Amino acid sequence: MSPLIGNARGNLAAIALALGVATGPVATLAASPAVPLAMGTAWYPEQWPQSRWEQDLSLMEAAHLNVVRVAEFAWSTLEPREGQFEFDWLDRAIAEAARHHIRVVLGTPSAAPPAWLTTKYPDVLRVAEDGRTDEHGGRQQFSFTSPRYRQLARKIAEQMATRYGHNSNVIGWQIDNEVGPPSFDQETREQFHRWLQHKYGTVKALNEHWATAYWSQTYDDFGEVPMHTKNENPGLLLDWKRFVTDTWTDYVDNQVQVIRQHSEPRQFITTNTMLWNGGFDHYILHHSLDMAAWDEYVPGGPYEWLDYALQHDLVRGYKRANFWVMETQPAFVNWGPINRSLDPGQVREIAWQAVGHGADAVLYWQWRSALNGQEQYHGTLLGADGTPVPAYGEVQKIGAEFARVGTALSGTTPHSRVALLQSYASRWAIDFQRHHKDFDPIAEFGAFYRPFEREAQSVDVVSMDAPLQGYALVVAPALNVISDAQAEHLADYVRQGGHLVLGPRSGMKDPYNALWTQRQPGPLVDLLGGRVEQFYALDQPVTLSGQPGAGHATIWAETLEAVSPQTHGWLSYSSDQGWLSGKPAALTRKVGKGSITYLGAWLDAAFMQKVATELLKDAGVEPLLPGLSPDTPVEICERSGDGKRIWILINHASQPQTLKLPAPVKSFIVGTGRDGAGSSLTLSAHDVVVVDVGMPQPLSSRTPQEKQ
Ligand code: GAL
Repeated sequence: MSPLIGNARGNLAAIALALGVATGPVATLAASPAVPLAMGTAWYPEQWPQSRWEQDLSLMEAAHLNVVRVAEFAWSTLEPREGQFEFDWLDRAIAEAARHHIRVVLGTPSAAPPAWLTTKYPDVLRVAEDGRTDEHGGRQQFSFTSPRYRQLARKIAEQMATRYGHNSNVIGWQIDNEVGPPSFDQETREQFHRWLQHKYGTVKALNEHWATAYWSQTYDDFGEVPMHTKNENPGLLLDWKRFVTDTWTDYVDNQVQVIRQHSEPRQFITTNTMLWNGGFDHYILHHSLDMAAWDEYVPGGPYEWLDYALQHDLVRGYKRANFWVMETQPAFVNWGPINRSLDPGQVREIAWQAVGHGADAVLYWQWRSALNGQEQYHGTLLGADGTPVPAYGEVQKIGAEFARVGTALSGTTPHSRVALLQSYASRWAIDFQRHHKDFDPIAEFGAFYRPFEREAQSVDVVSMDAPLQGYALVVAPALNVISDAQAEHLADYVRQGGHLVLGPRSGMKDPYNALWTQRQPGPLVDLLGGRVEQFYALDQPVTLSGQPGAGHATIWAETLEAVSPQTHGWLSYSSDQGWLSGKPAALTRKVGKGSITYLGAWLDAAFMQKVATELLKDAGVEPLLPGLSPDTPVEICERSGDGKRIWILINHASQPQTLKLPAPVKSFIVGTGRDGAGSSLTLSAHDVVVVDVGMPQPLSSRTPQEKQ
């Protein structure tokens, strides 16, 4: 049976059930069963003579590449004049790839409109916030609201889907490329006003939610509302972001729908997103997509591996399933300030880290240097002369390893007992009004993620609305905006025995970005039996201490107040800190078998590590590998499912590292470590070892009850 067979768009829960995989809070199943573990590249055959393709594909095959993504910037070649389509070259490229056992992901080419299009229809051009209209050149120079552009983009997508929707070598689709920049043209303004009207019904309701009596902002008509992205009413700013989200979602869906109509369900549909892109809510955009995919780049400097661990976990959370790395650099990019190359071994280290966090494919951008165009200096696998550059050898090695591990990893995914809640509304609301210039919501999220990830060795990052039952611990680092329904969702989780931790600035705003009339955490005040008395931006660290030890708060500190006798403080500011003196910084209340905790300070890293260790212990979460110090630069990633339990061990340091394993492993699939037979192993610099640890059931999937 062809490995291509599989239902990418089937009901994931039903398939999971059939496989006996638990559904619920954890990622359950790869949405991309075409190749168990794929490796590939972005290939631009339209830029090269056809006589060269055979050589390119042979070199790809020799490096064990088994997927190419093509055509996402090929609109001018596919439709050189309006309505005149030329697919012969693409037919041939797909067929030649098949002869080399290379599958194809087709990109719809709407990120780069051809010159005839923007010349004939200048109304589709994007307008920047300062009112300047984009010219042709570059890419993404279209307006995301333009009905005409939608129509033209849908037409080319339809032509492609009709032609390749049943092609057995085409395994999936990528819509557009890194969607993101909004437009500020007249059409957008009108759509924004219609969107507001649809949301609020009456302008009176909008005035109330935005409290527009402030500064005489009261509107008599939706048409009076300005289109701003900063220095505005916070209600307007948040609604603008939501409008942009809905508009990009609709833009992507416009193409998704037509591809679905003309293609087989086994072909997945995705789009490639960018690291921490805050332009739109990624959870919403992914509703109609089969799978998440992202573009992982390291623009320079040291590889901050925990930051990338977080990125992968974030992307896995978009669909709560395995994902693809649709693009990554073979060695360096061309758009950073200093485009330093990754060190030898690091391309491999990074690829395996992605797999450890749930990637089922890694594709390198790009295959060969384009002879001209804006990216001549970017890292590639072949030079302009068409022969391999040094990174090719490393990729070839990874390709051979992927081929070896594919079967072992198929049907597996990371399973976590800890979830961090990520909310775009909260992130945006804080960013609009940081109050302290260094309160970067992404940095704060990372400050919470790192200690939990290090201690638990596996963390899910999910949206506010994800199912939470089954997580032992749920942490919301700065849940600034929260609705009544979301508060109820969290309260339910706690009442059913879950442990919830809220970080600073939580529960301050309602969904309209207006202040709750309770103090923080707003609708969770009663459950906590306590509240925030006052928040303070810090220009100096302040000391605090309690049950987990002593440390510092920086940037932000809130004084808390217990209202219920069942609520107790376990961390307080020292006595010489002005308004903060002696006041509680953290409160916890037990609720049945569960608990709710509010931590009102941004703690220094070392202290946060201690606090995280305590919170994990209280929630009954055990690490995969007990006794591994959080300072050890070795990562352990577990993927399990389908009767398998695989560990990917990665040394992120430039020095060798030795680990003690709890028991001898069943077998080594990649690498051996120096002491391959026993229960300790040594990883050389940037090295990776993949082992089958065998069942029993992974610790991480046991419920707290089972552990007692
Ligand atoms: C990505 C983009 C690719 C290429 C790459 C270079 O953001 O999707 O087309 O430009 O960057 O790093």
